[in-house]
This record gives sequence, structure tokens and C-alpha cells, in this order.
Amino acid sequence: MAKFKVRKFITRNMCMASRLCRYHRRFMFICSPCFVLIPVYIYVSLAVTYTMKHGTSITHLLPTRFIATGLRLSKDLAPLPEKVFWRNELDSGALWNFIQHIEDRRNNPILKPALIDSVNHSSTPNDTERSIWRSSGSCSPDYEILNIMPDYETFSTQMKDFVMSMHCRDYPLILEPRDVCDHGPLAKTPMLLLAIKSQSANFENREAIRQTWGRSGRVKGWEKEGGRVRRVFLLGTSNDSQSENKLKLESKIFGDIIQWDFTDTFFNLTLKDVLFWEWFSGRCPHARFIFKGDDDVFVRTPAILDYLQGEEEKTGTTTKRSTQSNMKQFVVGDVIRNAAPLRMKETKYYVPKSFYKGLYPTYPGGGGVVYSGSLAHKLFEVSQRVHLFPIDDVYLGMCLQRLGVPPINHPAFLTFGFPEDEPKDPCANHTILLVHKCSPTDMFQLWTETSTPSPECRNTTLRVKPRVP
Ligand SMILES: *[C@@H]1O[C@H](CO)[C@@H](O)[C@H](O)[C@H]1NC(C)=O
Ligand SMILES: *[C@@H]1O[C@H](CO)[C@@H](O)[C@H](O)[C@H]1NC(C)=O
Ligand SMILES: *[C@@H]1O[C@H](CO)[C@@H](O)[C@H](O)[C@H]1NC(C)=O
Ligand SMILES: *[C@@H]1O[C@H](CO)[C@@H](O)[C@H](O)[C@H]1NC(C)=O
Ligand SMILES: *[C@@H]1O[C@H](CO)[C@@H](O)[C@H](O)[C@H]1NC(C)=O
Ligand SMILES: *[C@@H]1O[C@H](CO)[C@@H](O)[C@H](O)[C@H]1NC(C)=O
Repeated sequence: MAKFKVRKFITRNMCMASRLCRYHRRFMFICSPCFVLIPVYIYVSLAVTYTMKHGTSITHLLPTRFIATGLRLSKDLAPLPEKVFWRNELDSGALWNFIQHIEDRRNNPILKPALIDSVNHSSTPNDTERSIWRSSGSCSPDYEILNIMPDYETFSTQMKDFVMSMHCRDYPLILEPRDVCDHGPLAKTPMLLLAIKSQSANFENREAIRQTWGRSGRVKGWEKEGGRVRRVFLLGTSNDSQSENKLKLESKIFGDIIQWDFTDTFFNLTLKDVLFWEWFSGRCPHARFIFKGDDDVFVRTPAILDYLQGEEEKTGTTTKRSTQSNMKQFVVGDVIRNAAPLRMKETKYYVPKSFYKGLYPTYPGGGGVVYSGSLAHKLFEVSQRVHLFPIDDVYLGMCLQRLGVPPINHPAFLTFGFPEDEPKDPCANHTILLVHKCSPTDMFQLWTETSTPSPECRNTTLRVKPRVP
């Protein structure tokens, strides 16, 4: 009996022990994560207290890449993100936004970091996407677009033409310049390449430019040594056979014409950018700076050279011998912010709502803009991933946005001419880098006036007062 009792006692005790053990194990199992979380909790509370104490508001904690819609106009946020930025949300109901959304998502640097520096698309689009995004292949009119754009018939003629051919950017060269950029000795690569948008009928403008601000050769700055300047005119084709023939002759004589086989219309100007970047990357890759602008502007070329050299010295990037400026992100002009598409059908800039929604990105006005050669290579790459847009300077802004490069505003780029309310200054013409709009006669006058400044205007500095919008 006693033996039995003892055994029972032991068994019961063992039972209790094992039960206790079981509870203990369970307790440990449930609570050990709590112990681990305690330091994390302490860290988080300390961090939050610290942040609140030091007055950092929530907006500053947001990543710089994020810009909420509606906050764009706020002065607190940079108009352009500092880092490469691709929208991930879709603006539905507008064709361009839709097409670009697909492309942006495919090249999103966060989802696909390796893509950022490569030109090639790596992931393949699905059938729907492919039928909309036909950037290469046939350049015949795209009638399928009519199925996606129910209000096509209400578009202006140039918008209709644009939509019908916007999938194509593959136009052959007809005329090519000679001796603009030598691949030979370093000393012969241009410091500044002038790329001027022209049309075959504008013979007089081209002639005035050749004889004035667009002279090719070594150009001395006012203060600094200056550099080699070269010039090309960018043209499409027209249906006027007489000017076309004259253009061929002009190209033979001056060798400064690039002509591609597309119709030279306002909404086809973006093709000049895209095709010029391609030409530049292949044929003139070492030019340090590029001026791109209209053929009805006047440019103070020596002053631009001084300015550019000053900028290079400021960043300490380039020595005399180096061929290419290291200013990879340099673009300067008359910068336009928060512009909205014009919806009046009568204007030259009319873009329908069903084609583009939202504000335009920050962009330098197309009358005249200067950027570095290295940026031109980047622009060529990124332009492969940005769908053509009918307005060329807005397109440049779209490319810059995707490169994360903010354009620099310089008040001496008067792409809208002199402000009307400005008090008359006898030396005003010596304060500019560029002015719009000029007839050939104006160009000769301005050239004479600015190349031989009167004694009182000799020391005039560039204007600093920003344009009042
Ligand atoms: C893009 O793809 C082509 C052929 O698929 C290849 O020859 C080329 O090197 C690629 N370019 C880059 C930058 O990867
Ligand atoms: C293809 O992509 C588009 C846009 O991203 C999407 O709306 C569509 O559903 C996709 N189609 C297929 C068959 O996956
Ligand atoms: C040439 O084009 C213009 C507009 O682009 C047009 O008005 C004109 O009729 C055309 N002329 C010929 C001969 O086709
Ligand atoms: C641009 O040029 C192409 C090729 O000549 C032409 O088919 C298209 O209609 C032009 N686009 C515009 C907007 O004029
Ligand atoms: C500046 O140049 C324009 C165009 O040649 C000329 O009409 C104007 O008189 C000039 N301004 C001054 C102050 O000389
Ligand atoms: C212009 O600058 C030079 C040298 O800096 C100086 O000698 C001259 O007096 C200045 N002229 C005027 C009109 O200010």
C-alpha cells in the first residue's frame, strides 16, 4: 500500500511538474517575442520624441521623390524632384498619359533599378500595350488609334496629323553637314555647337545668322578666351520644291544643314530634338555645349561663351585640354514652371484634354536653351522612353524630369523679348544672352551694336532681374 502511495505521490508530482513545465514553455513561447520587441518599442518612442522635439514636420519626412497632386504649386516643394522620378499612378482618360504610364512603369528605377542606365527595354509589353506603343517598326499612319480616341474628329488638323504619326520617329537623313565636328585633334572639337531650328523657306534668317551671331570658327569672349563655335540648321521637308532645291544648293555651299525626311510642321518640331540628339551622339559626341533655338532669335555668342566658361570654372570641372565638360546636368534658359496645356482650339499650342492631362513639367522655353554635351547624350537615352509630345520644349521638360535634372533659369535669356514695362536702358542690348524675336535686319543691327559697344556700355553686366510673369 505504502509503496503504492509513494508511487502515486511521485507520479502526481511529476505530473504537476510536467504541467508546470508545459505552461512555462508556452509562456516562454508567447512572451519571448515581447521581450525582443521591448527595445524596438523604446527605440521607436525615443526616435519619435526626438523628431518632434527638433521640429521636423511630416512633410520633411516624406521622400523627396514623392509629390502629391495639388502640392505642385506649393513653394515648399521643389518643382522638380532631385532624384530620378517616374510616376507610378495612372492619369486615366488621356492618351499620352496612358501610353507614357506604361512606359514609365516598365522603366521604373525602383522596381527595376538595373534599367536606369540602359537604353533597351527588358520586360516585354503585353499585346494591348504593344498595339498602343509602337515606337519602332512601320511608320505608316496609325488608323487603329481612331478606336482609342473617340473624339479624334474634333481635333485640330495638326493634332490629327500628330496623333496619326506619333508612333514613328524613324526618319532618314536627307542632307548632312560637313566638317562640323572632327573626330580628330581635341582642339578641333567645338566648345559650342549651335543647333538652330529652321525651315527651308527661311533662307534670309539663315544667311543673317551665318554672317552675325552664328559665325563658325574661333570666337573670343569679352573677358575670357572663348572657344570654337560650330553651327548646324535643323530642318524637315516642305512641299515647296523651289526652296527645297535652293536648300540642296545651300547645303553644298555651306555644309551646315541637317535635313530629315519628315514634314516640317510645328507639331513635328519634337522630332528635331530627338533626331538631333541621335545625330549628336553619333557624329559630334565631344562638343562641350549645345545651343538649341529658333532661327528668329539673336544670341550674343561671345557673352554666352564667357558665361559658360565662368560656369565651368565655378564647378572646377574643365581644363583647357579636356574635350568634354563634366557638367553632366547643365541646362540653362528661360525656365517656365507650372504651365498648363492650352485648351483653346484656335491657338497654335492647343492640346485636347483627351490627349494630355495635368500640368506641364518645368521646362526651358524653346526659343533658345543651352545644355552640356554630356546631358545631350543622356537626353538621347531617356528620349527612347518618353513618348513623342507635340510641343518640343515641353518634351524637353518631360525628358529632364525623368533624368531628375532641373533646368537653371537665367534672366538674360529673353525668349519673350524685352519686358514692355521696363524703363529704357541705353545699354539694354548689352545685358542679354538671347533675345526673341528678330528679323534678319534686326540681327545685323544688333550684331553691329553689340560687337562694338560704345564706351559707356562696355562694362555692362548680364541682367539679373527675373522676368515678371
Ligand atoms: C540593346 O540591344 C541590342 C540588341 O538587342 C544590343 O546590340 C545593344 O548592345 C543593347 N544596348 C544596350 C545599351 O544594352
Ligand atoms: C496589358 O496591359 C494593360 C495596361 O497595363 C492592361 O490594362 C491590360 O489588362 C493588359 N492585358 C493583358 C492581356 O494582360
Ligand atoms: C503645301 O503645304 C501647305 C501647308 O502645309 C498647303 O497649304 C499647300 O496647299 C501645299 N501646297 C501644295 C502644292 O501641295
Ligand atoms: C510629321 O511628319 C510626318 C512625316 O512626314 C507626317 O506624316 C506627319 O503628318 C507630320 N506630323 C505633323 C503633326 O505634321
Ligand atoms: C536694341 O536692339 C534693337 C534691335 O536692333 C533696337 O531696335 C533697339 O533700339 C536697341 N536698343 C537700344 C537701347 O539701343
Ligand atoms: C570699364 O572697365 C575698365 C576696366 O575694368 C575701366 O578701366 C573703365 O574705366 C570702365 N569704364 C566704365 C565706363 O565704367
